[in-house]
Amino acid sequence: MTNERWALGGDLNVARIGYGAMKLTGWPRGEAPAHDTALAILRRAVELGVNHIDTSNYYSRGGVAANELIRQALHPYPDDLVIVTKVGALVEGSDIALPAEGKNGLTPDGLRRGVEANLRSLGVDRLDVVNLRMGDLDRSQASLAASLETLLALREEGLIRHLGVSNVTAEELAQARAIAPIACVQNLYNVSRRDDDPIVDVCAEAGIAYVPYFPVGGFQPLTARHLEAVAARHGATVPQVALAWLLARSPNILLIPGTGSLAHLEENLAAGALKLTAEDLAELG
Ligand SMILES: NC(=O)c1ccc[n+]([C@@H]2O[C@H](COP(=O)([O-])OP(=O)(O)OC[C@H]3O[C@@H](n4cnc5c(N)ncnc54)[C@H](OP(=O)(O)O)[C@@H]3O)[C@@H](O)[C@H]2O)c1
Repeated sequence: MTNERWALGGDLNVARIGYGAMKLTGWPRGEAPAHDTALAILRRAVELGVNHIDTSNYYSRGGVAANELIRQALHPYPDDLVIVTKVGALVEGSDIALPAEGKNGLTPDGLRRGVEANLRSLGVDRLDVVNLRMGDLDRSQASLAASLETLLALREEGLIRHLGVSNVTAEELAQARAIAPIACVQNLYNVSRRDDDPIVDVCAEAGIAYVPYFPVGGFQPLTARHLEAVAARHGATVPQVALAWLLARSPNILLIPGTGSLAHLEENLAAGALKLTAEDLAELG
């Protein structure tokens, strides 16, 4: 399988197609795969060359936690495995039910608890990359600047290697870059949702990885006649075309498609070998 590489944070050599672990838990909604299937997916991903896994301590529902599964399936971790986690939104998965004023993941205490919970559940002394997730949170709790300062301090303590940001605007990314080196941006982006085009380009120019979430549509599978037409021409599937489009869009884009299916995992990784033609790209717009 073709899986090109990118130096995340300048020093973590990752395959461009990675894996997002949220779907293994059924958090925040939906079905989780059986425990054995979840472990098999993680192990198969690594076997097939995945060395970039996206997760969070708060991907956890009904006693099924992504970090626990990752640890159980893969610890002791291969030397080149990069686990990217996120803090800021919530600390525990069940925090999603808290009223807005109770969601304190962005306070200095919440950020520290988030980092410590990730260290503990993953069973590591240092987190490879921590994304500060902003987005839909109540910004009155804490500013992006103050939150990043807190994470920088945790990095100085040796608990974090690289920092990233998630669910940020272009202005917030610029603000973040003035405060700390930013290794990656994780925002919503896919072939049908391209609001972030300018951010992708800013990141490409700055050597920052852009890691789209919902690369194959997230909770709403991508469907469009032009996607189906391109897929049919290549004997591929629509998710494969969506992933191949992202790979072609910019070399700094790293993929973390999520799946609770071994067959879909293999299909997604095979998208690395799908090279879209100029005609395909023109049709996809
Ligand atoms: N920073 C943030 O705010 C944020 C938000 C959301 C997600 N994330 C991260 O981004 C990762 C990716 O996002 P996501 O998992 O929500 O969205 P996604 O990768 O676009 O879509 C996952 C969904 O697509 C289905 N799927 C995947 N591959 C498929 C295939 N080849 N054929 C048919 N269906 C397929 C999966 O169902 P099956 O299980 O049936 O394959 C699942 O329902 C997550 O795992 C998480 O790590 C971050």
